[in-house]
Amino acid sequence: MKVLGLQGVLLAGLVLLARPALAADAEWELGKRLFNKGSVPACAICHTLRDAGSEGTVGPILDEIKPDAERVGKALRNGLGAMPSFAKSLTEAEIKALARYVSQASGGAAPTQ
Ligand code: HEC
Repeated sequence: MKVLGLQGVLLAGLVLLARPALAADAEWELGKRLFNKGSVPACAICHTLRDAGSEGTVGPILDEIKPDAERVGKALRNGLGAMPSFAKSLTEAEIKALARYVSQASGGAAPTQ
């Protein structure tokens, strides 16, 4: 029985190659969703971030302060001033996805990330 023809092998290779990119995009989408409405209270209520289309004015404009992922993660875990901590309401994976999304969407991520 012929299991995989040449096309099948090529297709399988393409799927394997595409996987890391798909996983990264899923993390980006998760971060964006949490930013807009997944987190409680949602980041978008308090922050302006052009990519997310949010116009909150309670916290700093993220496009201007361009925080790197570490700075976002720290604010989420510890809270800061009027910003509540999200350590109890978000999982580590969700905090990581938000840190990546906010730093990259605002232009604060290091070029190597
Ligand atoms: C209730 C309003 C509010 C919500 C909700 C909120 N923030 Fe904030 N955020 C603030 C305020 C206010 C500051 C400024 C705090 C200060 O500097 O004293 C801030 C600061 C920050 C900073 C800058 C931290 C620094 O080191 O200067 C980042 C990054 C940030 N918020 C990201 C987020 C993300 C991501 C979410 C959603 C999970 C979120 N914020 C939700 C009000 C909010």
